[in-house]
Amino acid sequence: MRVLVTGGAGYIGSHLADRLLAEGHTVVVVDDLSLGKVANMQHNFENSRFSFVEGDILDARLIGDLVDQCDAIYHLAAVVGVKHVLNDPLQTMITNVWGTGVVLEAAAKSKRRAVLASSSEVYGKGAVPRLDEDDDRVLGTTQVSRWCYSTGKALDEHLALAYHRQKGLPVAIVRYFNSYGPRLDPHGYGSVVAKFINQALDGQPITVHGDGQQSRCFTYIDDTVEGTVLAATVDAANGEVLNIARAEETTIHQLAETVRDATGSSSEITSVPYEAEYGKLFEDTRRRVPAVEKAERVLRFRAQVPLAKGLERTINWFRDKR
Ligand SMILES: NC(=O)c1ccc[n+]([C@@H]2O[C@H](COP(=O)([O-])OP(=O)(O)OC[C@H]3O[C@@H](n4cnc5c(N)ncnc54)[C@H](O)[C@@H]3O)[C@@H](O)[C@H]2O)c1
Repeated sequence: MRVLVTGGAGYIGSHLADRLLAEGHTVVVVDDLSLGKVANMQHNFENSRFSFVEGDILDARLIGDLVDQCDAIYHLAAVVGVKHVLNDPLQTMITNVWGTGVVLEAAAKSKRRAVLASSSEVYGKGAVPRLDEDDDRVLGTTQVSRWCYSTGKALDEHLALAYHRQKGLPVAIVRYFNSYGPRLDPHGYGSVVAKFINQALDGQPITVHGDGQQSRCFTYIDDTVEGTVLAATVDAANGEVLNIARAEETTIHQLAETVRDATGSSSEITSVPYEAEYGKLFEDTRRRVPAVEKAERVLRFRAQVPLAKGLERTINWFRDKR
């Protein structure tokens, strides 16, 4: 197949492109390099089945042409990372909502199979023990910019489902939960894992927000990619929303300890008030644990890589890069 990956110069998109190439597909990446990097794709430049188009998903003509030439679309391009979202909520909304509209419109016109990358952020601050795809979304006030990412991704999902129901677009929606692995932004704008690893390797204090008792479930990149590919290929995923996650809960303080131990660092772990990092108008999600049964049932997907193993591989990558 000839496959289009939007945002393919980014962290997840570049791993997805590698996987699709390894499966024998032809891969076209479109990315404006606003957050993505040439370095994430460079190893594929000699591959005749790989091509990179530097472009904006808001460019409807470009996207229409690229979609027309492909059999399937993985739509991952987005403004990602709490810091980026807080710094530029306007661009976040324009790219993540309008841009997704452009991609889905083109996919629907050409009736191409699509996968939409959504996020566990969609659930907001919902405090149920395990977040099921059918659960309510619980969000704070619109004055808290953080929620514009969640709202944007939820609008994307609504759009995708509307195109599916009304225009026959074959589409699956994947909600990623804190993916981590090699090629994470080393500055840690988007990922607490990258930030902690860098701090530990530098011997700097590992800075935990608040009391560190907020919990997340981290999913290793190979599992994120596996779930994404299955969503594009399993027929029963068409029109469905699926959590792509490993349900291994860890508090952020535990994560800091695990990273410190795994790096052999002597960094101290310190607490930083949310306010110092994100300003006054910020809200966090206390706990975020996925229900994984639907992905198991529909995709036969189960995330395989334990956190300790995935962290080891990620730390090795960060070390090698220094
Ligand atoms: N990393 C995670 O844990 C996570 C969690 C939930 C959802 N997601 C979603 O997965 C997708 C990939 O995320 P990622 O972590 O790889 O982030 P990333 O920032 O590494 O990748 C996003 C890519 O989109 C590109 N991009 C941004 N605006 C663009 C535009 N207008 N036109 C073309 N390209 C543009 C960026 O340059 C970047 O390469 C995103 O849709 C994100 O919302 C990621």
